Parts: sequence; structure tokens; C-alpha cells
Amino acid sequence: MTDETSQDLRAVEWTGDGLSLIDQTALPARLDRIAVREVDQLVDAIVRLVVRGAPAIGAAGAYGVAIALLQGEREGWTRDQLLAAIARIREARPTAVNLAVCVDRVAPFAGQGLAAVLAEADAVVREDLKANHDMGAYGADWLLKRTAPDRPLRILTHCNTGALATAGWGTALGVIRELHSRGLVELVHADETRPLLQGSRLTAWELDHDGIPHVVQADGAAAGTILRGEIDAAIVGADRIAANGDTANKVGTVGVALACAHAGIPFIVAAPTTTVDLATATGDAIHIEMRDEAEILNWSGVRTAPAGSRGHNPAFDVTPGTLVTALVTERGVLEVSAGELPGDRLR
Ligand code: MRU
Repeated sequence: MTDETSQDLRAVEWTGDGLSLIDQTALPARLDRIAVREVDQLVDAIVRLVVRGAPAIGAAGAYGVAIALLQGEREGWTRDQLLAAIARIREARPTAVNLAVCVDRVAPFAGQGLAAVLAEADAVVREDLKANHDMGAYGADWLLKRTAPDRPLRILTHCNTGALATAGWGTALGVIRELHSRGLVELVHADETRPLLQGSRLTAWELDHDGIPHVVQADGAAAGTILRGEIDAAIVGADRIAANGDTANKVGTVGVALACAHAGIPFIVAAPTTTVDLATATGDAIHIEMRDEAEILNWSGVRTAPAGSRGHNPAFDVTPGTLVTALVTERGVLEVSAGELPGDRLR
């Protein structure tokens, strides 16, 4: 990296005639960017997690409408072909609602031309960045009020929710950054996040770059670490939050929430309102992406499970709202487990 800090990274950037994406599959070994000019390339990048994290794929989807418009002009698409291309982007991954929300927000501008589409996509990114900073302050203030610590805090997080996963700064990692800027982080426990290691490859990379003290631990270590009293609060992001507060996030999150409930420490979800899906009543209705079993059966491209074994690879799980102590959005904090439900407070 040059002189930019990881919090200033832009995982998703419009470059005038296409998208430039940080290739998150190459981190931390290499900070490469890939250029995207075609819808197929964008769908592939979203599916392969070149770009990932709910708000970041929302931003990529927003600019994806511009990609489709430009490709359609080059190749003489009909209106139906354009709409089908936009729909393919929208459906590239099913769980994070941000992707559909952002595509649906920008697509109606396609009829007004590229400048109108780009203006709306830029607004998506601008608003996400601001939401992240607002969440950081709300989340830090709430946690300090709740725990009244006489020392810096020990925080556990799961998956990557930082600049890489958003328009910048981060959601849960934004709260952690805010606490760190106030001198209030003793140590972050970053779950490695099997099977694709978003925690050890991406979160640890962002924390390392910003000089935030941290350790990487196996996902299986999380519950024990919490129950031994080594964690003051867990802060995670979300991919879709139902009206009753049930929260889909990276697989492994619900175990963290259960352990926090047992230990009596706060389990905090930080997510922008673009991740709240009030049309979904409960977590039961959330479509959980199932990924290729090879991600589980292999390690670094080498088969580790017996040839006869099959894999089970849900990318996300659902934490019941009753386990969510606080939901931090850019509009403030809802104490969900105490009955402040998104469906009542965020309509
Ligand atoms: O499969 P991923 O890496 O896209 O999953 C990402 C997560 O689960 C994040 O916690 C969530 O999208 C929030 S990112 C701010």
C-alpha cells in the first residue's frame, strides 16, 4: 500500500468508463485492482468475492447499472436485454439485501442516461460513507454508556466489515475504529472466518494497517474466549436484518451471539438501514446463500476431506433478534433484545 490508510481505501471506484475493484481474493498478499467493463465480469466478481461485504456489493451493483448501460450502448442491446443484464447483477448473490436495494434505486435512472445513473450511484456511496461514520459514533457512545469501562475494551468481531466491505471506514469495524481513535481498544479478537478467511485475510489486514492491537483466532475459539471473560463486547455487521431484528450475517455469527448471551456481554450489530429489510418479517424468510462445497472440502486448492465426503457450505446464518443487544444504524441505536424492533422503529 502507498500512503493511504486502509480506512481510506475505496474497494469500489468508478473510473470514468468502468469500475475498479480491489481484488479481495488476493489480499493480504497483494493489493491488486481489477477493471470491470462488462456485466459478466461484474457478476463473476461478486460471485467470487472479489468484491464482498453487503454495502460494497450494493455499491458495485449501483455502478453495475452504468456498466450495463455502457455495454448495452456498445453492443446495441434492446431495452429487454438491458433489463435482463441489470437483473443478473441484482441476483448475483441472494442474502445481502443491499445489492437488490441499490440496483433497484439506481436502475430507474437508466432511461435518463449515464450521467443520471452515475449521480445516483455516487449518492449511494456518499451516503454509505457518512452512515458508517455516524454508526461509528453512535455505536461507541452506546457501548461506553452501557459498559462504563475503567480501561480500554476487548472486542470480538467476525468476518470483515471494514473499508473493504463498504464505501469506506466500515460498519462494525467503523465502531471499532471510532473506539480506537478514542484510545479505548485494548485488543480486538478477529475470528478468522472460515471458509474464506475474511477475518484473518481482510480484517486483520485493516487492523494491522491502522495499528489497532489484535489477534486472529479460529472461529471455534470464539465461544470459549467469551465464556472465559476475555471479551467485553462482540461487534459484527449484517447482510440482511428482518423486521423483528433477526440478523443474517457471515456463518459463525450466531454462535458468537449465543456465547455473548450466556456470558451477559453485549452482542452488537452495526449496519446501515440499507441492510434492514422491513419487507422480511423474520429470519426464517431470509434466503441463505449456499456456496460451492469445494470451499469446505479443500484447503488452498488441495483436497483435504476424503473423496467420499460431501460439503455443507452455507455462507451465512441467522441470529435471532432476541440475542441482539443493540442494532446500530446511521439513525441511532435500537436495543432489539429489549423490544426495540426495526419493524416498529425504522419504518
Ligand atoms: O460473504 P461475505 O464476505 O460478503 O460476507 C460478509 C459479511 O457477512 C459481513 O459481515 C456483512 O456483509 C457486513 S459488511 C459491512
